[in-house]
Amino acid sequence: MWSLVRQALVGSLAIWTVAAELTFVAEAEIERDGTVVDITSQLDFVPQPPRQRWQHRSPRRPNAPPGRGNSKRDTVSYSGNWCGASQHSTTSDQIVSSFSYFTAPNLRLRPRIPQTQYAAAWVGIDGASCTQALLQAGVTTVVNANGGQSAWAWWQWFPEASYQIKGIPVKPGDWMSVNVTATTVTQGKIVITNVQQGYAITLNINNGPRLCRVDTEWIVEDFYENDAEGGKQVPFAAFDDLWFVDAASKTVKGKNIGIDGAAMVQLQNENGTLSCKSEKWDNANFVAISG
Ligand SMILES: *[C@@H]1O[C@H](CO)[C@@H](O)[C@H](O)[C@H]1NC(C)=O
Ligand SMILES: *[C@@H]1O[C@H](CO)[C@@H](O)[C@H](O)[C@H]1NC(C)=O
Repeated sequence: MWSLVRQALVGSLAIWTVAAELTFVAEAEIERDGTVVDITSQLDFVPQPPRQRWQHRSPRRPNAPPGRGNSKRDTVSYSGNWCGASQHSTTSDQIVSSFSYFTAPNLRLRPRIPQTQYAAAWVGIDGASCTQALLQAGVTTVVNANGGQSAWAWWQWFPEASYQIKGIPVKPGDWMSVNVTATTVTQGKIVITNVQQGYAITLNINNGPRLCRVDTEWIVEDFYENDAEGGKQVPFAAFDDLWFVDAASKTVKGKNIGIDGAAMVQLQNENGTLSCKSEKWDNANFVAISG
């Protein structure tokens, strides 16, 4: 399907290139319902501060029990910024792709914390045990003091900046899919699809920061406002149950990795409150629940 679309566009401006941070190059094409849209006017990348890799947090006494759906062999971990499932492979059989459907965060204001609150949901490779790089893409939603929301898709090759993608409309609650592929440790491909609105963007990225390709994860994040390690996190909104569906990774040797055996990561804020719990449903599906 994609190659047919591309052939139809030979000679037209179907590829838009951005030199990001001068270190790597991303090319992108957007299609809508199988047809490439006028990307020269609709596609834009807006640089954003980078998100952070996993801030490991040693468990404190949780205020709520970990998810009942988690089975005994799934490790429960705690993080100050991540909530979701984190899987590990080995350097002898590296991760090649990470995929999931998920819903764009649909937010509600939390009382007693500053208004204008956020949550991000994304799929990525590395950033957990491999802290030098993280290739990721997803959706961030913001809710303002009136309860009004807006959402946008983005991609990032940490530690480089993250880029907001204009040209892919996203509404809170829309079903999205993200497929992040690391063809090599410095070459990536990202496909972000708004399944509900029929848009897809394909990005090919070269010369990215060197990945380890040993972690794969599906995450809801209370991200950092700026680049400073240990800097300020955005106020984290409450959200509707956020399902990751058909979550799966592939390795170089063709092994499929799902949720079984993953670290189910719980987001514990600075006061010890679990502001997001992740509960496994089965090997392909889990839910992040606002705490
Ligand atoms: C994700 O992309 C990779 C590489 O293009 C592909 O092999 C894999 O099948 C894709 N996964 C899904 C679920 O589409
Ligand atoms: C943690 O508690 C302090 C003191 O009560 C409060 O100011 C702060 O907003 C709380 N943090 C969160 C994330 O709720």
